[in-house]
Amino acid sequence: MIAYPIAQIATERFSRPEVPPTMSSRWADDQLHRKAKKEGYRSRAAYKFHEIQRRYHLVRRDDNVIDLGAAPGSWLQVIRSLTDGMVMGIDLNYIPPLDGVRLLTGDFSSPEITSRVHAEVPVVNVVVCDAAPKLSGNHSYDQARAIAIGEEALRFTHQLLKRGGNFVVKSFQGDMFDQLVGKVREKFLAVHLFRPNSTRKGSSEIYIIAKNYRG
Ligand SMILES: C[S@@+](CC[C@H](N)C(=O)[O-])C[C@H]1O[C@@H](n2cnc3c(N)ncnc32)[C@H](O)[C@@H]1O
Repeated sequence: MIAYPIAQIATERFSRPEVPPTMSSRWADDQLHRKAKKEGYRSRAAYKFHEIQRRYHLVRRDDNVIDLGAAPGSWLQVIRSLTDGMVMGIDLNYIPPLDGVRLLTGDFSSPEITSRVHAEVPVVNVVVCDAAPKLSGNHSYDQARAIAIGEEALRFTHQLLKRGGNFVVKSFQGDMFDQLVGKVREKFLAVHLFRPNSTRKGSSEIYIIAKNYRG
């Protein structure tokens, strides 16, 4: 595996491998959870998207955005506030209704979902994917599933994303991560690795931010 120099990963704190949470990191997590509740977000994940948007300006005012693995819907809440275009969320689990957001229940990698998106959204400007597998506890298996989800999200973008469009996908540092980044680099003009401050301390979670789809 390529060890990315720290400077190449945009972050203020980055550590790996996974380490158990300390009292202070648990306290920080609880704080963020309480903040999300107070501000009306469905989960603390909202702050990760805020950080991504502040830094990379992925979503513009008139963009149509598809969110893969969107439940319970906090990224959708943030995205709805950023664009006047269409916003669609897809998840294996039911997503409670959100004003002005089209919601689909199903596997985003299935042909049925792809055709429904194709039929309903004339132009897709941005695809975001925060999907994660259900953890089995077997680290190698979970890592392989996480990478497979990233590859499925990339396939989805190949089918639907407009040339010039943007993409963000959650991944995890470990086996096959570099290969996934390589595949994204082949198809986008600019690719960055970003670890939001709101990611749990000790997690190997990292976002691949890809701008300007080559088509
Ligand atoms: C961390 S949660 C997403 C949180 C979301 N970004 C938010 O802000 O509320 C990950 C989600 O990915 C979903 N997921 C995983 N694989 C999926 C797939 N193939 N198709 C659709 N959803 C999937 C899971 O059901 C889970 O709800």
